[in-house]
This record gives sequence, C-alpha cells and structure tokens, in this order.
Amino acid sequence: MAYDTILVTGGAGFIGSNFIRYVLEKTGFSGRLVNLDKLTYAGNPENLEDIGRKYKSRYVFVKGDICDFKLLAGVFEKYKPGAVAHFAAESHVDRSIFGPKDFVETNIHGTFALLETARQAWLQPAAGAGSRQPFRFHHVSTDEVYGSLGKTGKFKESTPYDPRSPYSASKASSDHLARAYHHTYGLPVTVSNCSNNYGPYHFPEKLIPLAILNALEGKPLPVYGDGLQVRDWLYVGDHCAAIWRIMNKGRCGETYNVGGNCEMKNIDVVKGICSALERLAPSAANPALAGKKYRDLITYVKDRPGHDRRYAIDFSKIKRELGWTPSVTFKEGLDRTVAWYLANGGWVKNVKTGAYKNWLKKNYAAK
Ligand code: NAD
Ligand code: DAU
Repeated sequence: MAYDTILVTGGAGFIGSNFIRYVLEKTGFSGRLVNLDKLTYAGNPENLEDIGRKYKSRYVFVKGDICDFKLLAGVFEKYKPGAVAHFAAESHVDRSIFGPKDFVETNIHGTFALLETARQAWLQPAAGAGSRQPFRFHHVSTDEVYGSLGKTGKFKESTPYDPRSPYSASKASSDHLARAYHHTYGLPVTVSNCSNNYGPYHFPEKLIPLAILNALEGKPLPVYGDGLQVRDWLYVGDHCAAIWRIMNKGRCGETYNVGGNCEMKNIDVVKGICSALERLAPSAANPALAGKKYRDLITYVKDRPGHDRRYAIDFSKIKRELGWTPSVTFKEGLDRTVAWYLANGGWVKNVKTGAYKNWLKKNYAAK
C-alpha cells in the first residue's frame, strides 16, 4: 500500500527511531512521517536529530501523550495519516514491577485512545471521494504476552495468552483491544508480537546496552538469578523490516510473530558481549579495567521477581505469508551494536548524564 502520511507513535524510543530511519532511508517511501512522542525518560529526540535535518519537509515531530484524546484528534485532523505504526509504550519489565501505573496508563489507556481516535478518523469519508481511504493501524507488541515456556516448544500466533509481569499484562490488554477494534468495528488492524530486540539507540537499562556500557567503565555486569533464562534475540533492523512488510502486505485482522531464530541463555549473551568487546576495544587497553578481562566483571545478582524462564518464537507464518526472515546473525548484530556504542560516545554521555533532558527543555519548552 502506498501511504501519504504515516503516524508513528513512540518514534523517539529505541525501535521507533530505528523504524523511522529505516522507512525514510531504506524503503523508497516518499511520503511523510509524523512522530508523536511524549518524550518520557526513554524518548530521546537526539536519536533522530540528523533525520530531522535531512528530511525537513517529510519528517514532523509532535510532542504529546497518546492518552490525550484532544491532542490525538488534532493530530489526525491536521496530518490525516493513512497508517499508524504504534510503538509508544512503557517497555521495561523491571520498571513495571516497581511502578506499574504508567504501564497501565500508556499501554492500555493510551492504546485505547489511539484506536478510538483512529476509528473516528477512519469513519470520515475522504474529501470528495465519498468512501473511506485505505487505512492501516499496526500495533507493535511483544512475545512476553504468551508467558513462559519449558525446555521445548515455541510461541505460535495461536498460543494462549499468559502474561506474568505488569508490563506483559498491559501489552496483552492492548493487543486484545487492537484485535477487538478489528473484529467489532472492522478497523484495518494488524498486530505483531516480537522477541527481544537489540541494536543502536537502545536505552541502557536493558541487558545488552547496559552490559556494554558497564563493561567499558569496568562496572559489574549484573546477571539475574542463575543466568540460564532464555530469550530470542532479533537485530532491530530486521524487526523494522518485518513491521514494514506487515504494514504493506500483511492481512488485516492478522497477527504475525516475529523472531530472530536466536535462542540464547542470558549468561551466554553477556559472555558474547565480553568477547565482542575484547575484539573491538580490548580490555588490556582500557584503563577502567585495571588489568581485568571484561568477563571478570560478570556478577550474579538477585533474580527479577516472576522472571520468565524461556521465550522462543515460531515465525513461520510471516515467513510463509510475507517472505520475511531475519537476516542478521547474533555475532554480526552484536559486533555492529558494540561498534555503534563505541562510536557514539556523545549520545551515551548525554543519555547517561541526562543532558538530553536539558536539550529537550531548551528545544521543546514552548510546545
Ligand atoms: P522504548 O522504551 O525505547 O520507547 C518507547 C517510546 O514511547 C519512547 O520514545 C517514549 O517517550 C514513548 N512513550 C512512552 N509513553 C508515551 C505516551 N504516553 N505517549 C507518547 N509516547 C510515549 O521502547 P522500545 O523498546 O522502542 O519498544 C517499542 C515498542 O515495541 C513497545 O510497544 C514495546 O512493547 C514493543 N516491543 C519491544 C521489544 C524490545 O525488545 N525492545 C520487543 C518486542 C516489542
Ligand atoms: O521479549 C520482548 C521484550 O524484551 C520486550 O517486550 C521488552 O520491551 C524488552 O524490554 C525486552 O524485555 P526483557 O525483560 O527480556 O529485556 P531486558 O533487557 O530487561 O532483559 C533481558 C534478559 O536479561 C531478561 O531475562 C532479564 C535479564 N537481565 C536484565 C537486566 C537489565 C539480567 O540478567 N540483568 C540485567 O541487568
């Protein structure tokens, strides 16, 4: 489908910013992207500073909350998006354990507000056309809604939901709302449930960027519990390609599981990061390591409450129907990711010192 304008929510976060970059730079898309983001602690407009400069007329940033019906109505009225790519969410499981309220508000109420506003806009006939414009609402979700696996098996699209953290429960709720809007009102909705992403612009509270940056500073690399929990890892660029494929070729009302075919124990992920760092920034040349190897920093810590043991994704549906498969191996993706963090010290410093919040105040205070 050729969209004139796509509304991306949460586009200043990790995956959303990679998605905006991907669509503008890699797909031949010639329309306009509107990025609606509240700029929470996880939203960083610096992620797209170069994109804003390069695509002045085709990239628009709107600071705002997806829970705000009035603001949403204004955005739909002004920009008339033909598609929505909905990334905005509170995304960190640990934070959801300590403070679930924002998760319920943004992930459930926010998704509801967005769906309802999209439905109202979609119901309006296009000016002069007498009928509805083609429309697509793509809801980005997680494999965590399916719960935890034993030693074998994989999550399929038909796996019953069994969310276990406030984060996954809130995402599950939003998935149900998105599907309900299709089944009840006919809104053209697609849903994707994806495994753990990694890559550039990942906020350093999540395992991979946290371990990379801690290692470079000679700090402990915290491994929860016994470190034998299994996650499936997907390079963020591959996830963006999957979403784009679904938005353009996916069947309305359908859900697509997206995975990396890369099941790894957490301890092996952290060891892999240490090996990548030894290759790209040897510990022997890093004064913060004081003669230690990166691996010596691995530290087992108290487990995450309710920690899911194993996730694994069966992505045969998107492969069969849409021809998508992951293209980046874990070693290649990790090397790229480590190299990106090494090359982007300014971004890291701003994120870690909170300097980007000052940048925000300066640039968005009036809005
Ligand atoms: P992130 O935390 O890096 O970014 C979230 C973005 O949403 C931020 O820019 C934030 O400012 C914005 N936001 C939060 N609340 C908002 C609100 N009320 N209104 C408007 N904007 C708001 O998250 P991410 O890792 O990029 O994840 C993006 C989406 O992908 C989420 O829906 C998440 O559940 C899903 N997902 C993530 C992963 C992963 O591994 N990171 C895997 C599968 C699915
Ligand atoms: O599975 C998809 C999900 O992946 C997304 O829906 C979430 O938005 C995203 O944050 C991610 O959730 P996880 O909880 O799996 O990601 P995190 O990087 O926080 O943790 C990965 C694994 O590593 C998990 O088993 C917990 C463990 N861990 C995490 C941290 C931060 C550690 O052992 N030590 C740590 O310091």
